[in-house]
Amino acid sequence: MSVADNAKDPDLKGLSKTAAQLPQSGIRKFFEIASQMQNVISLGVGEPDFATPWTAREAAIYSIEKGQTTYTSNLGLIELRRELAKLIRRRYAVEYNPDGEILITTGVAQGLDLAARALLDIGDEVLIPEPCFVSYKPCVSLAGGVPVAVETNSSSNFQVATRALDDLVTPRTKAILIGHPSNPTGAVFEKETLMKIVDFACRHGLYIISDEIYDRLTYDGTHTMVAALPRAFERTITLNGFSKTYAMTGWRIGYACAPPEILNTMMKIHSYTMLSAPTPGQKAALDAVRRAEKDALAMAQEYRRRRNIIVNGCNSIGLDCALPGGSFYAFPSIRSSGLSSEQFAERLLYEEQVAVVPGGVFGLGGEGHVRMSYATDGELIKKALERMKRFVDNLSSSDVGMTAKAAR
Ligand SMILES: Cc1ncc(COP(=O)(O)O)c(C=O)c1O
Repeated sequence: MSVADNAKDPDLKGLSKTAAQLPQSGIRKFFEIASQMQNVISLGVGEPDFATPWTAREAAIYSIEKGQTTYTSNLGLIELRRELAKLIRRRYAVEYNPDGEILITTGVAQGLDLAARALLDIGDEVLIPEPCFVSYKPCVSLAGGVPVAVETNSSSNFQVATRALDDLVTPRTKAILIGHPSNPTGAVFEKETLMKIVDFACRHGLYIISDEIYDRLTYDGTHTMVAALPRAFERTITLNGFSKTYAMTGWRIGYACAPPEILNTMMKIHSYTMLSAPTPGQKAALDAVRRAEKDALAMAQEYRRRRNIIVNGCNSIGLDCALPGGSFYAFPSIRSSGLSSEQFAERLLYEEQVAVVPGGVFGLGGEGHVRMSYATDGELIKKALERMKRFVDNLSSSDVGMTAKAAR
């Protein structure tokens, strides 16, 4: 190929405007910098530091050995759908028919995409409480929808106020998309908040997309499944998966549950764009639901232990941090530093080699906080906190710190 062949054709048309306008992930930027540096302790990634339970890995190895390498049903392995139906019935007393109300997806990430595409026409609006997982808004935009941010904040423990929803709803509103327990805040929506959301959805004829991927990482009290609430079932798409509970991020297995008409629409899109979720991954997931309950509980217990270390550590160095009720993130306030969340994260990375995520990347209500993942080894968390203490102490003696001190 000659150099001339590489020259750009001036008549070549532009890329999709919707795709081109998507922002770069604010998380990625930090991890690219961190990956070039030595000796970094990362509290940045939302990924378990455990390996997938051994029996699940073995089940996948076995399936590959036996040559079980074809597509599965578009809906996913029926045995897996049956196990999930049993699990949901046992935990939440909600009945989903494995044959038409459960779809195995390539992670909750794909479930979000399918839900948005199944529900939205061009210009339909989706209310999204923020701060929220970074994929929510792009998934809505890529489906032609319009994400509408609903601000929540730490003073109300990131609960959604009905008044805020009432102010933002329009005739174009089609759905509300929530994630609980929350990434990035760790907040758990109280049952009362969820009931209000359901009531609001009923009053306006809306769907609810409920991302409950952290349901098993709820530390105080029990998780409330939205679809289990009165009047919620018919309008709710529940998304869940194996990445967090069973430390299976790389296997790319999740599931969506919804009434037949909605699920069938999602399934049609899935059957054209994905065909089926990876077969060895589904075999591993099947083993995980059947045999890895103890492992899942042990990992959740370890996260709970680390949660206390991280929350106490943050509070003791002057970064106010509420006890997160679930997920594996702490979301301390860094306002006392006098820095923006981006400045805080950048300087902490360069000066003390600790990677955290600036809260501002998670949308409204996130600024003034950083996200710290405790899906990281406990000893490393302690070391990171020592470095953060030094960082915060040094700030106090610098100009910025003086401003911060005055503001305290
Ligand atoms: C709230 C939330 N939803 C969905 C996902 C994506 O999960 P999966 O690995 O199942 O695609 C994540 C991953 O970090 C998440 O935090």
